[in-house]
Amino acid sequence: ISLKPFNTFGIDKKAKFFIQATTEKDILQALDKAKELNLPLIVLGGGSNILLTKDLEAVVLKIEIKGIQITKETDEEVFIEVGAGENWHEFVLYCIEKNLAGVENLSLIPGTVGASPMQNIGAYGIEIKEVFQSLKAIHRTTGKEEIFHWEDCQFGYRESIFKNDLKDQYIITRVEFRLKKKPVYHTEYGAIAQTLEEMKVTNLSIKSISDAVIKIRQSKLPDPKVIGNAGSFFKNPTVEPQMFEKIKSENPTVPGFPNDEGIKIPAAWLIEQAGWKGKTFGNIGVHKLQPLVLVNYGNGDGQEIAELSRKIQASIEEKFGISLLTEVNFL
Ligand code: EPU
Repeated sequence: ISLKPFNTFGIDKKAKFFIQATTEKDILQALDKAKELNLPLIVLGGGSNILLTKDLEAVVLKIEIKGIQITKETDEEVFIEVGAGENWHEFVLYCIEKNLAGVENLSLIPGTVGASPMQNIGAYGIEIKEVFQSLKAIHRTTGKEEIFHWEDCQFGYRESIFKNDLKDQYIITRVEFRLKKKPVYHTEYGAIAQTLEEMKVTNLSIKSISDAVIKIRQSKLPDPKVIGNAGSFFKNPTVEPQMFEKIKSENPTVPGFPNDEGIKIPAAWLIEQAGWKGKTFGNIGVHKLQPLVLVNYGNGDGQEIAELSRKIQASIEEKFGISLLTEVNFL
């Protein structure tokens, strides 16, 4: 079957075998099927962080486990377990409606709840690790369900143990979050403060923050339903302070954000400086408002996008001596 409807890049590649799992039992059956057919098993969430470069000689398993359940409540917090197949943004809207704080800055991120801890999704000053409590996952060879707590997940910038040491070993089925009854607002990200002001918000609430984030995202990130894309294609690199100073001496306007490892430079800035912003190549290109996003205008091929990304990486390497790493997973 064609995977075109199942990846936000809208790439038309096929899966040898396609299974949708609404229960844990379906997942076990898919694992058996893959074994029986002697094919690898590839798990798909919302398909919003992948680039299909070829037909998949594999059993492709789309996780559709649903359900939102309160597991525990204290005076200050509410713990909620959510099925991996729930849409992330719908979960955010659920929290806002119930007046539960913590995920409002993460509004409108495409994809599913199950994929969110995988790469520790983040935006506008918040990462999922700040609201994460635990997750349940099925081990691919034993079929056993295991629980992973916060410390077990080794969260980092767009990283977790599931992308590293435990890559391709577990299938995430449910994620438990810890939300606050009394909100702690995060408006330090420049664009949020500015947008709240433009919206003339006087009473700050999780709803108004969510509205501001939605407004910012809609203003510069292409809607995958209209133009195929997978959000940020690359990660923002962190460089050593000396390296940053060297770049700054040649480019005084370079933005830099200090973190534990050094200074983070927006990949969008590097890509723009290298002249890629808004460039179109046939069916594909670099988005005109946010150059960190590669786009498929329709009928684009995964190989072409992969090729473009390699050219961008090579030019950033040559111009700045910085290696850009991809955030999107190539399949
Ligand atoms: N910039 C440019 N030129 C541009 C656009 C941006 O130079 O055309 C520079 C500016 O200096 C700007 C800076 O890039 O201040 C940051 O831009 P932006 O706020 O759009 O954020 P980003 O670093 O490009 C990251 C995440 C996004 C997330 C936003 C907001 C990564 C790889 N991306 O983008 O996440 O929404 O911050 O927090 O960390 C995603 O992961 O798919 C994603 C969209």
